[in-house]
Amino acid sequence: MTEIHETVRLHYAQAALGVLNGESCCADDGQYGSQLYTALERDELPGAAVMASLGCGNPIAVAELHEGERVLDLGSGGGIDVLLSGKRVGPAGRAFGLDMTDEMLALAQRNAAEAGATNVEFLKGHIEAIPLPAASIDVVISNCVVNLAADKPAVFREIARVLRPGGRIGISDIVADDALTAAQRAERGSYSGCIAGALTFSEYRLGLEAAGLTDVSVTVSHQVADGMYSAIVKATRPASGASESPAEGAAAVPSEGAGQSSCCCGGNCG
Ligand SMILES: C[S@@+](CC[C@H](N)C(=O)[O-])C[C@H]1O[C@@H](n2cnc3c(N)ncnc32)[C@H](O)[C@@H]1O
Repeated sequence: MTEIHETVRLHYAQAALGVLNGESCCADDGQYGSQLYTALERDELPGAAVMASLGCGNPIAVAELHEGERVLDLGSGGGIDVLLSGKRVGPAGRAFGLDMTDEMLALAQRNAAEAGATNVEFLKGHIEAIPLPAASIDVVISNCVVNLAADKPAVFREIARVLRPGGRIGISDIVADDALTAAQRAERGSYSGCIAGALTFSEYRLGLEAAGLTDVSVTVSHQVADGMYSAIVKATRPASGASESPAEGAAAVPSEGAGQSSCCCGGNCG
């Protein structure tokens, strides 16, 4: 485990323990958290799953899930997007949540039990090394987590590996203006939360393309700080095996700790 993983893990362990103890962990300011979901979506879930929402968007709103699909949520936290996905894919489908923080996994399990969800599963691990077989997933979603990853090219390679040919991604994440340097992002991250490790629009696109994904789009949904945005990222794994041979360009994406902060999403900065 890297120092980044440990810093991030400690932070989210504290957030999860807060919710497990009945406290609210997270700012709900319209930029992060449960206000980014509709009232109807929030009503579908246990209160603690809503309270633990630390995302910067609503990937379910863009992923267009269908009955029977297999969905993977990277950095599933308290499980809000896994539980919503489980409802969308129905009994013939399955929703997996992957998280590295034991306390978050415990909270997510408790929320799943409370929701009576039987087609969801929470896995422990890093999003840089997904513990699922190749080509086993129809849709990868994630909400405000890729910016926290220690090795982003590894995350993109792993997404391409686990997606079946023709599979797709619908990710919410914080993205920076192309003009912002890593130092400028780190500066803004110190007060806005969860943004110092953000990729730029170009880095995001190049990183996904380098992993073999196509039809990449990165669309702003709202601003979270000067030059920093919550964005919706979509892409597809080509129907015939292009993700097996990554293109040139992976070097354009910072890896292992570049521009990383002691991160905090949801305004939950310690
Ligand atoms: C900002 S929270 C988002 C949680 C959830 N997606 C949501 O919308 O509420 C980040 C979550 O990602 C997890 N996480 C961060 N980096 C990770 C990594 N490299 N591998 C696995 N999980 C990670 C943390 O433990 C935490 O639960």
